[in-house]
Amino acid sequence: MRVVVLTGAGISAESGVPTFRDARGLWEGHRVEDVASPEAFQRQPDLVHRFYDERRAALTRVQPNAAHRALACLEQQLGSRMLVVTQNIDDLHERAGSRRVLHMHGKLRSARCTACGTRLDWREDLAHRPACPRCGERALRPDVVWFGESTLGMGQVESALSRADLFVSVGTSGMVYPAAGFVRIARLFGARTLELNLERTPGSELFDEARHGPAGSLVRAWVQDLLARRPAEVEVTRE
Ligand code: APR
Repeated sequence: MRVVVLTGAGISAESGVPTFRDARGLWEGHRVEDVASPEAFQRQPDLVHRFYDERRAALTRVQPNAAHRALACLEQQLGSRMLVVTQNIDDLHERAGSRRVLHMHGKLRSARCTACGTRLDWREDLAHRPACPRCGERALRPDVVWFGESTLGMGQVESALSRADLFVSVGTSGMVYPAAGFVRIARLFGARTLELNLERTPGSELFDEARHGPAGSLVRAWVQDLLARRPAEVEVTRE
């Protein structure tokens, strides 16, 4: 069985990472056009750097939750037949043990040099304009995909969707493309589709099945059920 799991901000909510469009979400406190576009970075780089520096620093105060851990357990079972495609820029999937994770919107703990193009693991602030360790230019930017920029790894995502038997969407409002269109691609290629989200989304009816509730319990129950139907080598830890 081949499984593609798409995750959004909702999977990290129970870890204390704010979502974007929920009450007290990031887009309530900030205007997208002020912090998440190349134009905003041109216009007011200090504000943009501060926004991502705060989120990068906040990563040191959060931990993966039961949903992240359950997906990591499932990957141990399925190996290369599973791919997690995440819209999230946090590293909670990897910290939970997932290895096959594609960050289509980039990563908070990475910086990109706009002078030489180098990508670097980065855990510090960028607002004080540190020099690029490779070219020395003070041209580092957050290695995230802003609105109007191309998402990452779409070739790999489309190839995985075209071969998937099961497509599962976890904790995303389905408001942002191209991620919101993945369910249609997966269905086109005959995959079974499942939505796991706190509440109904505009795309819920596109899925064969939709289950609503907190990701921590929904994902763990779904993985336990899936593994129970397979000789489980790995038991999902019970809280
Ligand atoms: N468990 C499951 N789902 C949850 C939980 C939870 N504990 N808490 C919130 N949710 C759901 C919400 O109901 C909502 O449908 O997660 C979804 C989060 O939606 P958004 O805030 O819109 O986040 P996301 O879908 O990831 O946004 C997509 O938009 O702003 C851009 O680049 C940003 O990657 C992001 C993209």
